[in-house]
Amino acid sequence: MSRTIIVSNRLPTKVQRTASVLSFTPSEGGLATGLGSIYKSDDNVWVGWPGLSIEGEDEQQHVVEQLHADSMRPVFLTDAEIKGFYEGFSNETLWPTFHYFSQYAVYDLTQWETYRAVNEKFCHAVLELAGPDDTIWVHDYQLLLLPQMLRKARPESSIGFFLHIPFPSYELLRVIPWSKELLEGMLGADLIGFHTFGYMRHFLSAVSHLLGATSQNGIVELGNRSVVVDSFPMGIDYEKYATTAASEEAAGHIRQYREALQEVRVILSIDRLDYTKGIAERLKAYDLLLQRHPEWRGKVTLLMVVVPSRDQVAQYQSLKEEIDELVGRINAAYSSITWTPIQYFYRSYPLEELSALYRLADVALVTPMRDGMNLVAKEFVASKEGQQGVLILSERAGAARELSDALIINPTDTIQLAEVMHEALTMPEEEQVQRMESMQALVRQYNVHHWVELFMNRLFYSKNKQLTLATA
Ligand code: F6P
Repeated sequence: MSRTIIVSNRLPTKVQRTASVLSFTPSEGGLATGLGSIYKSDDNVWVGWPGLSIEGEDEQQHVVEQLHADSMRPVFLTDAEIKGFYEGFSNETLWPTFHYFSQYAVYDLTQWETYRAVNEKFCHAVLELAGPDDTIWVHDYQLLLLPQMLRKARPESSIGFFLHIPFPSYELLRVIPWSKELLEGMLGADLIGFHTFGYMRHFLSAVSHLLGATSQNGIVELGNRSVVVDSFPMGIDYEKYATTAASEEAAGHIRQYREALQEVRVILSIDRLDYTKGIAERLKAYDLLLQRHPEWRGKVTLLMVVVPSRDQVAQYQSLKEEIDELVGRINAAYSSITWTPIQYFYRSYPLEELSALYRLADVALVTPMRDGMNLVAKEFVASKEGQQGVLILSERAGAARELSDALIINPTDTIQLAEVMHEALTMPEEEQVQRMESMQALVRQYNVHHWVELFMNRLFYSKNKQLTLATA
């Protein structure tokens, strides 16, 4: 029987070690939360890293057994691989470059070699598992070389690739010394998907400039084979978010939070700790709101959840310090005995509590500097079913291409953002409901199930067309 083998750097379950005891918890991030609820259908399997260096054989065996039971196959990485591949090339070269933060990018030959070696390691893990009829679906920037490695080993396999982050302009990509190899790696797939048409256009332009390959209507011709390139905006599990937010458990949390917050209006901000998310700019804009509209002092609170992420990477450590300092300064400047302007939480929350926060919030601030899609924006919309609420959304998040009924802002323009927060807090109820309902209709229809179906059908038809042409 044919299966789909999902391959991503991180598994949807992460293993953590506390005082030598291993625990298993859901991973954070768009990919894991987005696909996590559906990969278990049929006989599908997810191959990836469990998020921790586990070197002892007994411990590895324990992890394998636990994850096997949940259809996952771990790829274990050594400390040196985590450093060179994950913290290094993935998150110090590709991540900043693809998000237009090339001033943070490092170009290090050893990290590049480790990146290639770890992609090979993933390739072996997939080949051990995949039968000739299985479909292999590779995800994200950590595994850009994998499609081509798989193609070499299994020329007939059906291979899809999806990039969850932006694809930058060719002018940025070309700065990476190994940009050609990266493009060739991706082109091993039969189908390459992006969240937006803009990212797809950048990719096709890079392929033409750097590799000289021509394309027509999104089909790249490589001589012996062709690769289909298209945009597939990722959705969320709408029902899961709408139902959890309306559940008794969430209602209990909401009552508790409301009692503590009293009458104040709530602006919500939830992100992984990342410089691409615009967290510092958001804080500066909130400071401006309190300066320019002093009537909100004592009447609004910013609930800010920052989920720890990549804390071994230098830029993330200094961003954490900057955020701590900004929150401290704003709270010290405006707090009163009965009111705290920013309630700041540096941790992750289970779904029920997150849903309660979405439900409680009057306004959600999703203002990244760059973001492939941003599923938090969609989760907020789904959690607000039957309720009012306003979404403030960055024009540079992929989600802005779809959620045009949000208040769309330029995240660098802190004055504009402060004024739009004021506008959101004073928006008539009727307008809030109207905007929310139109966004809900879209997020409900183009949900994650629809996204998977669209991608898989397209992969199936592109592959079949190629086979037909090859045998004609
Ligand atoms: O959505 C982009 C992404 O990098 C995913 O690939 C990843 O799972 C998620 O963000 C979280 O990042 P990390 O795995 O580095 O914690």
